Order: sequence, then structure tokens, then C-alpha cells
Amino acid sequence: MLATKRIDGKARADRLVADVAAAAAKLKAASGIAAGLCAVLVGDDPASQVYVRNKGKAATAAGIQSFQESLPASIGEAELLALIAKLNADDRVDGILVQLPLPKHIDPQRVIDAIDPRKDVDGFHAHNVGHLWSGGLSRVLVPCTPYGCLLLLRDVLPDLTGAEAVVLGRSNIVGKPMAALLLAENCTVTLAHSKSRDIPAILRRADILVAAVGRPEFVRGDWIKPGAVVIDVGINRVAAADGKSKLVGDVAFAGAQGVAAAITPVPGGVGPMTIACLLRNTLIAACRRRGQPEPTL
Ligand code: GUN
Repeated sequence: MLATKRIDGKARADRLVADVAAAAAKLKAASGIAAGLCAVLVGDDPASQVYVRNKGKAATAAGIQSFQESLPASIGEAELLALIAKLNADDRVDGILVQLPLPKHIDPQRVIDAIDPRKDVDGFHAHNVGHLWSGGLSRVLVPCTPYGCLLLLRDVLPDLTGAEAVVLGRSNIVGKPMAALLLAENCTVTLAHSKSRDIPAILRRADILVAAVGRPEFVRGDWIKPGAVVIDVGINRVAAADGKSKLVGDVAFAGAQGVAAAITPVPGGVGPMTIACLLRNTLIAACRRRGQPEPTL
């Protein structure tokens, strides 16, 4: 039986953060510039609070200045847009991240498109999305989670050319930008989603499978092509046998053993890469906006 490799996202993320920290220190020494990241948190969703706190801590640890703006869920769209305008004009801020989801009465794309695209470290602004799809990758800020997935894939498969890649899930945050990145790597890309017919048959074609549907252990072992590389973006909290809860991915991890050539675990796979890539984007944004040489990260 095939020995399935466990892709260590934590170790890869630690390496990337160390590289970002070194580049941040170099920027500071060369130009006196301290890169800065501002997270905007609207409302009191506990998961979003944890994410934003972790992003702030990680930035500080990498030598990136961390700012946070917290607003009540009742805030109007106009007030949020005014805050974005203030951050766009704030020279200390190289990266702006508006934590999603936003309250229902606020149009997220309108808010994202108000961010200076050069400061859009999430890569969600229409400018960045457009250039991502039209092949101008070197000009854009690339969404963090898909970029993290790509770095993990490249470690396992140095050349992705011609591979059959299936992305399961069509969100703006993961599925769509992941498809664009894999296309840029010359994969043959299928973007499958909840309305796709016969998902198991589509998945069985995949040399590379990226699962991002947010459904616990949705992908069964026998939907995976033998020898495939599986990237599991899901982070789902489910009840555990001991009455507590645990995190599982979108792929049945045990079912993938002996079938997949390699798979990312949950936790410890894609999750740590997202924050590392956010720090990477912040440093790149700082260098570009301030006319400094851009590090390769
Ligand atoms: N909510 C879930 N994932 C993300 C992300 O990558 N960026 C932001 N801003 N919000 C999110």
C-alpha cells in the first residue's frame, strides 16, 4: 500500500515567516521603513476575533507593525468606507485587511473595492482579481490561502504543468483564486462546486485536489485518485468522542491514507500558511508602495 506523506504546513509557514522577518529587518535597516498592517474587525464574531488577534500577534513577531480598528456590528457602510479612506491615506499602513464576513447590511465587495489596491493584502480588490486572471501575477497581491496552498503543492510537485487539478468550492476567498493560480501553473483546472453533477467522478480525475467546501470530511477516500496530492482547506469544528470538540478538514483524513500520495492535515496544514502569506503580502506591499526592492518570498 502507498505510504501517504503528511504535508507539514506549520513547518513551511515557520520558514516563510522567518524569511518575511528577515526581509522586514532588511527593509528597516536600508530605509528606516517599518512595514505596517491594519486589521479591521466589524462586530463581535468570536472566530473573527481569534483570527484577527492571531494575525496581529504574527505580524508583531515578524517585525511588522500591527494596528487594529474594531467597530460595532451596527456601524453603517458609509462609516466603514470613511475608515477605509483614512487607512488608505495613513502612510504607516502598508496593508489593510477587512475581516470577513461583514454584517449583512454591508456590501463586502463595495468595502473591499474602496481599499487602495496597493494595500489590499487579501488580494480581493477587483483590480487584483482582474490581474490575477489576466496573467499579471507579478503586479498583484495574491489571496493568502490559495497562495499558501500553491507553496505547499510546489514543495511536493516542483512542476505542475499538465496536471489535472480539481478545486472543490467556488468562493472568492479560496476556490476562484486557487483555480486562477493553478491555471497560471499550466494545470488543467476544473472548478467543482455544490451544484456540480457527480462530484466523486470529477474528483477521481484529479492529480491535484484542493478541497474548500467547509463541510466536515465531505471528500471520501474512494473519491481520491491513487497517487493524488490533496490540499485540505477546510477547518470544521465537530463533536469528538470524549464530549469535547475537534477540528477536521473537508477530506476524510483516515480515508485518504494509502490512497493519496500526500495530504495536508487539519490542523497544521493550510491554516498556518494563510497568516504567513498575509505577512508576505504586507511586506511586498510595503516595498512596492515605497519604491524599495521587492524581496522574493
Ligand atoms: N475570512 C475568512 N478568511 C478570510 C481571509 O482570508 N481574509 C479575510 N479578510 N477574511 C477572511
